[in-house]
Amino acid sequence: MPRSAYTHLQRRRHWLGALAASALAPGLTRGADQPEITLRFSHVVAQETPKGLAASRFKALVEQRSGGRIAVQVFPDGQLYGDRDEMQALQLGAIDLVAPSLSKFGRIGLPEFELFDLPFLFDDLSDVRRITLGPLGQRLFRGLQRQGLVGLGYFDNGFKQMSAKRPLLAPADFAGLRMRVQASWVIAEQMRALGARPVTLAFSETRQALAAGVVDGTENPVSNFWTQAMHQVQSDLSLTNHGYLGYAVVTNQRLWQHLRDADRQLINQALQEALSYANQIADRQNDLALVALRQANTTRIHSLSEPQRAHLRQAVQPVHRALAARIGANWTQALHEAMSQG
Ligand code: LMR
Repeated sequence: MPRSAYTHLQRRRHWLGALAASALAPGLTRGADQPEITLRFSHVVAQETPKGLAASRFKALVEQRSGGRIAVQVFPDGQLYGDRDEMQALQLGAIDLVAPSLSKFGRIGLPEFELFDLPFLFDDLSDVRRITLGPLGQRLFRGLQRQGLVGLGYFDNGFKQMSAKRPLLAPADFAGLRMRVQASWVIAEQMRALGARPVTLAFSETRQALAAGVVDGTENPVSNFWTQAMHQVQSDLSLTNHGYLGYAVVTNQRLWQHLRDADRQLINQALQEALSYANQIADRQNDLALVALRQANTTRIHSLSEPQRAHLRQAVQPVHRALAARIGANWTQALHEAMSQG
């Protein structure tokens, strides 16, 4: 797959170079012929995904509106940093923007973000907006400040499907399967509740682990499944729509506070427009990936009846109670209030 040939040595050299560069005012570059500000945006997925397209749109808007005075360098597909190190690289100022899945904030001490991972919590994207566009979404972002980070906005990929080498239509179908999951306690508990064994792996390692039989299956929206060519090593995709995958764009406080007001405003406005664009095209990207998958004819695609989804939903209900105990009544009450908004 298009994982960069960026060797370990190159990555090490980049780390050292980036640490030196971040000794400059973060995001600022020197040299008359260079843009005054260069923002380095790193992410782990392919270009033709909602996140990849959002990053490209952001780059185009910022460079056009600043007349090239502000440049955006996008590093897709984990070329520079992956799941394990992108957040640390951001905190160190080695990069300026990341957009991790909301499932990946628990690992930096913010388990409350894993409420987005609760299976069957959202019936549709309007339910997600009750959080991301409301007070709970902003409260979640306030927790990032403790990590020296600034949350700039949420956006969608879409609803996740289950894949393996057998149809996954009922809890019994998951028995004994090793299922790759993101670094999320809730998603691991979800797989355990279904009788599977969660295996936490970086996104960049997933395709290879499936091919090698290290894991039997995984979950993701179809756009990720397709762009990572998981269909070549997964014979069955079950359209469970059991959970949501979304993202938050995050920068570091030093950079954000160091910018001139006008530049911060230009960057933020461009980002909000890029995220709105991403939300508009995310559904289509997943639909197009599903069409391409059907045409590839490599993978059996299973739809589920409502009774089948109800059976899965019932099996994973204990995860909701377990998360409430893990993040406390305060967050749980806030989630309940957000979800019961008219
Ligand atoms: C995953 O790790 O499966 C996803 O979070 C990848 C992504 O960022 O869409």
